[in-house]
Amino acid sequence: MQWTILGAGAVGSLFATHLQRSGQKVNLLDTRQPHRQQAKPMLLEQLDGSICMCELDCIGYQDLAQIGCLLVTTKVWQVTHALQPLVGLLPESCPIVLLHNGMGTAEWLTEHFPHNPLLAGVTSCGALKTDASHIKHTGFGETWLGALNAAGEQWQTLVSPLADALGHAAWSEHIQERQWQKLVVNAVINPLTAVYNQQSGILLQHQDEIAALCLELRPLLLQQGLTNTANEWQELVLQVVDRTAKNYSSMQQDIANRRRTEIDYITGYLLQQAEQNGLELPQHRALYLKIKALESQFVTA
Ligand SMILES: NC(=O)c1ccc[n+]([C@@H]2O[C@H](COP(=O)([O-])OP(=O)(O)OC[C@H]3O[C@@H](n4cnc5c(N)ncnc54)[C@H](OP(=O)(O)O)[C@@H]3O)[C@@H](O)[C@H]2O)c1
Repeated sequence: MQWTILGAGAVGSLFATHLQRSGQKVNLLDTRQPHRQQAKPMLLEQLDGSICMCELDCIGYQDLAQIGCLLVTTKVWQVTHALQPLVGLLPESCPIVLLHNGMGTAEWLTEHFPHNPLLAGVTSCGALKTDASHIKHTGFGETWLGALNAAGEQWQTLVSPLADALGHAAWSEHIQERQWQKLVVNAVINPLTAVYNQQSGILLQHQDEIAALCLELRPLLLQQGLTNTANEWQELVLQVVDRTAKNYSSMQQDIANRRRTEIDYITGYLLQQAEQNGLELPQHRALYLKIKALESQFVTA
């Protein structure tokens, strides 16, 4: 199996280095480049603090023969732009796995790659790219894969090499439910921590806000077939807050570092779904507007 990583940032580099170290063939694809670039040395700092060196081949969007299972690990707002150069070129047998937070890219993918096996992944692995060639594994996590179309169902075989590489990976028959669960957790923790500009643990002091945001989402979640009570959603969010209390969320970091956030595909996606279903989410909308106002200081529309 040839694995091709599109988006060698924190998560992409973590997956690439772990897959290579477990004996898989891995290369990095940059669709901003037509052809192969110099191989990239990468220094992986593991959970136990040990450090190892990897070297990864780098290919461009015209090196089609070298693209294997395509693991897309860009930020969610980069996905369509990053995949666009491959539309009409990528062999139809090549599976595409989306591994990002937020939702709203699967529709575009299905439209533009209708014959490819399409899959989605949800991971709680933690990774930090401290510089261009230094990747730090910051937290052990679970990785779940599932099919987005019928052809994707044939690719459960991807799970075993990922599990060997990462320590955990499993197949989910309900991947969209897992994506929604992560979406809810992210929609509460990410914007609140970005607005407070604090580590996630600060939210233990704002449990009333968490409760209100969960309660407001309940009708929409019920319509999606997610039957948890508002209290159960709140519990789920609090468990993650507790587990990640000392971490800075990705949205807090994006705002602090003046980078575009994933808000349009997290809260923005929820607002869009609510509107389509005749529902209003005023508290989520207010948070969305606060993040967009912060973002507008450095991101032009
Ligand atoms: N980091 C974590 O611990 C973690 C955990 C779970 C889930 N996630 C999710 O995983 C996704 C990726 O997060 P991340 O932290 O890894 O982000 P990241 O470090 O910003 O990585 C994204 C990478 O994609 C690259 N990229 C963008 N367009 C590209 C293209 N056309 N061709 C090749 N590469 C391209 C970016 O390059 P440039 O920088 O040059 O644009 C960047 O290196 C996000 O949805 C995030 O929410 C992250």
